[in-house]
Amino acid sequence: MTELHLMEKIVSLAKRRGFVFPGSEIYGGLAGTFDYGPLGVVLKENVERLWLQMFRDDRDDMHGVDAAILMNPKIWEASGHVSGFSDPLVECGKCKKRFRADHLDGSRKCPECGGELGEVRQFNMMFKTHAGANEDTSAVVYLRPETAGGIFMNFKNVVDALHPKLPFGIAQIGKAFRNEIAPRDFIFRLRELSQMEVEYFVAPSGWEQAFEEWRKMMHLFAEAVGLPQGMVHELEVPTEDRAHYSKRTIDFEFDYPFGRKELWGLAYRTDFDLLAHANASGTELSYLDEETKEKFIPHVIEPSLGVDRTVLAILSSAYREDDMNGEVRTYLALAPRVAPVKAMVSPLLKNKPELVAKAREVRAELKRVHPAIAWDDNGNIGKRYRRQDEIGTPFCITIDFDTLGDPSTSSGQERPDLKDTVTLRHRDTGTQERLTIPEVAERIRVAIE
Ligand code: GAP
Repeated sequence: MTELHLMEKIVSLAKRRGFVFPGSEIYGGLAGTFDYGPLGVVLKENVERLWLQMFRDDRDDMHGVDAAILMNPKIWEASGHVSGFSDPLVECGKCKKRFRADHLDGSRKCPECGGELGEVRQFNMMFKTHAGANEDTSAVVYLRPETAGGIFMNFKNVVDALHPKLPFGIAQIGKAFRNEIAPRDFIFRLRELSQMEVEYFVAPSGWEQAFEEWRKMMHLFAEAVGLPQGMVHELEVPTEDRAHYSKRTIDFEFDYPFGRKELWGLAYRTDFDLLAHANASGTELSYLDEETKEKFIPHVIEPSLGVDRTVLAILSSAYREDDMNGEVRTYLALAPRVAPVKAMVSPLLKNKPELVAKAREVRAELKRVHPAIAWDDNGNIGKRYRRQDEIGTPFCITIDFDTLGDPSTSSGQERPDLKDTVTLRHRDTGTQERLTIPEVAERIRVAIE
C-alpha cells in the first residue's frame, strides 16, 4: 500500500463509517472545511476530554475560559496579526491559479499549466467580516486566527477573580479560522479548525523550567491518545521560521501518510502579548507578587495543539489491513480511551428472545462502566465483528446458549460451568476468551482508564 493510497483509504473509511464528511458536500463542498459525523464527533470529544483532564483539570495551577470568537479588532492589531499573519502568495500569469510560494520547489513555472509565475506577495490569512448593520471599514471584525487571543484578553479577569499565584495557566478549546491559500491533505490544513491551547504565565526567570515541563506533558498526551512514540518528532524551529512573538519554538511533527509535518507547537511567547495589549489598551496587565512586592508582566509558555491534526494522526496511525480467515480485514487499532465505541454487545441469534433478553441485560450492565457500548444483531457474527473492527471498537461481547446455561439448546455438551459467562473478542488479534460479566466489565474499565 503506497502512502498516498493509504490516505485515500483513510478518507474513504472516514466518510463511509461516519467519522468525517466533506463540508457542504451536496453543493460541491467548500475548500478547507469538513464536518465531523456521529463517530468522528465522539472521537474528537474523547481527545478534547483527555486534553482537558491532563492539561487543566488534574492540575491545581490551571483554569479554563471560553472566550468569544469575535473580538475587538484592536486585539489583532496589537498582537501583530493584522500586519504580519500572512503567507507568501504567487499567482500564475497564464491560468491565474494561486499558490503558497513556500510550498513550491523554487521554480518560476506554474505547477498546473507551466505558465510564468508572478512576484511573491504576502497574503493576510485572517477572515474579515462586519459587526452590526454597517459594512464600512469601522465595522470590520476578524474571526480569530488563534484561540490564544481570547486567553490574553482574560488574563486580568482571571487574576482579579481568582487571585492565582504565579505560575498559573489558562486553557481553552475552540475554533480558529485561517484563510489558507492552499487547504489540503484532508483535515490537516483547514480554513476552520479547532485548537486546544494553554497560555502558561510565569516569572521571567521561570520560563525554561516551564517550557521543559510542558514539553514532557505534550509527549505524555501523544502517548495517552495512542500515537506511536516513534512517529512523533521534535523540531527546534530556527529563528527565521519562528512566529513574530516567539523566542523559542519546538514543533512536534508527526509521520503522516503524506510526510513528516507539524502536529503541534510549543512556544515561548515572552511578555510579547501582555505587553503589547497593555500598551495598546492602556490597561495595566502586570502581576504583583504578594511576597516580594515585585510587579512585572509575566512571560508566557504556550503549548498549542490542533484537534483536527490530532484526529488525523490517530486515524492514520491506527489504520491496519490484515488477513483474517482468508479475507482482507480492515481495522482501526485505536487506543480504547479514544475509541468512539468501547464495546459491542450481540446476541448470537437475533430470533431467540431469551438470547436477546440476556444480551440486553449484559449491555445495560456494561453501560454502567461506560455509555458507549453498542448493540448489533444484524447479519452473521463474523460480519458484526468486521463492522466493529473497521471503526476501532476494542471489544465485542457475544451472548450464546451457554450464557443462559440452557443445556437443551447449547452446542451439544452440557456446560453448567459456562452459565453467565460470555465470549469476549479482542479487535487486534481476533482472539476470544470466555469470561464472567463482571470480568468483562473490569476488562473494559481498565482498558479505557
Ligand atoms: N497560538 C499559536 C498558534 O496558533 P500555530 O503553530 O499557528 O500556533 C498551532 O498553530 C496548531 O494549530 C498547529 O500546531 C496545528 O496543530 C494547528 N493548526 C494550525 N493551522 C492549522 C490549519 N490550517 N488546519 C488545521 N490545524 C491547524
